[in-house]
Amino acid sequence: MTYQMIEMHNQFPEVGIESIGLYVPRYFVSLDDLAHARGVDPMKFSVGIGQEQMAVPPPDEDVVTMGASAAHEALRDVDTSRIDTLIFATESGVDQSKAAAIYVHHLLQLPRRCKSFEVKQACCGSTAALQMAMAMVAQKPDRKVLIVAADVARYGLGTAGEPTQGAGALALVISAQPRIMKLESEWGSYTEDVMDFWRPNYLDEAVVDGKYSIKIYLKALSESWAQYTEESGLAFADHHRFCYHLPFTRMAEKAHRQLVKLTDQPEVHPEHYEDALHYNRVIGNSYTASLYIGLTSLLETTESDLTGQRIGLFSYGSGCMAAYFSGIVLPGYREALRPDRIAAQFQSRHRLSIEQYEEYYTHELPRDGSRYVTTAHDTGQFRLAGVEGHKRLYERAESLTVRAREPHIAVAM
Ligand code: CAA
Repeated sequence: MTYQMIEMHNQFPEVGIESIGLYVPRYFVSLDDLAHARGVDPMKFSVGIGQEQMAVPPPDEDVVTMGASAAHEALRDVDTSRIDTLIFATESGVDQSKAAAIYVHHLLQLPRRCKSFEVKQACCGSTAALQMAMAMVAQKPDRKVLIVAADVARYGLGTAGEPTQGAGALALVISAQPRIMKLESEWGSYTEDVMDFWRPNYLDEAVVDGKYSIKIYLKALSESWAQYTEESGLAFADHHRFCYHLPFTRMAEKAHRQLVKLTDQPEVHPEHYEDALHYNRVIGNSYTASLYIGLTSLLETTESDLTGQRIGLFSYGSGCMAAYFSGIVLPGYREALRPDRIAAQFQSRHRLSIEQYEEYYTHELPRDGSRYVTTAHDTGQFRLAGVEGHKRLYERAESLTVRAREPHIAVAM
């Protein structure tokens, strides 16, 4: 190696995804049930929007408990003493000042020297966190960064946005010892001040201009793709699969169709993006986690070997900021994944009636500082035990003796 090559090697070590953890709430609403309740043709939700179910967190779960459960899974085979930074991306934060990352740091007993903070730019916050993590690891390859992305997508009851709700959390360990995917260093970005989707501090649900948000999403895709291809010199044909931010799965079809047209491809091949949709179709939107749940779905459900394949990734955050980037699937990636655990999570979910869903949706914690103990529901490793003196109190769910009882209904995948 020449001196220059060694310098370059030192500057840009292989950085990528070492492990992934996914957490999905144990409750869901069937969109057929929602369609009947709202007087809508069920085909509109299943075909027009491309969703079958949406995950609903019970009153004792929030982004902290979901994020901690996903992170717990991601850290299963990782030496936590080397986690140098925890970045929590969310747009459903539980506090205006204190980062959700600090609660997760405590619940997972991470080292005191591990920096922990929260980032926000709608659904793209997790991708901003990823870029930050890559730079941190490139600078000091002996450290690892834990990214947690967790959100509860909420629109008004009975609104057009309602069938595009959902919830979930995804955690990534980014390191210089990637086992799943090497992340490439060329990115395309796009920022424009638009009001397509936002949530003022005084509202619990998003305000959205739905049709406009789809237009802006597609514009941001073209713009960020243009910069990404300019800088990387890569073309459409250099990519084997494509993952898109998934507010609902039909959006991927619209996005891919546009990319195919933009790059003058003779035809659309649905197999280029379809395996990335399976998990989201039964989870719904999970904002910051959505793209990475799509990537996990692709890696875990594609039957053929993806080793060495380049995956194109498009991240979109309303408001708006978007990014296009890519990664190469590494040999042995399957051994680092846990599709069995995710299948088990899906199979043990409870189907909510529309009345139960509306009860969960309208449940509120006291805002006057009074003490409130939450009823125990089926949760992941962690739960919100209650609030007192305006403080949120979390606990390990294993300590519970009482659990809410509802019928288990297996989910067809
Ligand atoms: N059978 C089959 N298809 C049907 C149907 C039926 N009976 N009835 C309607 N459809 C089709 C429609 O033709 C339409 O298809 P096209 O998109 O191909 O035109 C589709 O179902 C949706 O129907 P509408 O356009 O009438 O839908 P809507 O007005 O009820 O709203 C929505 C759809 C805009 C997605 C709405 O759910 C919404 O506002 N969602 C939240 C915003 C959102 O997700 N935006 C995405 C981009 S922004 C982003 O990505 C960030 C983020 O995470 C929020």
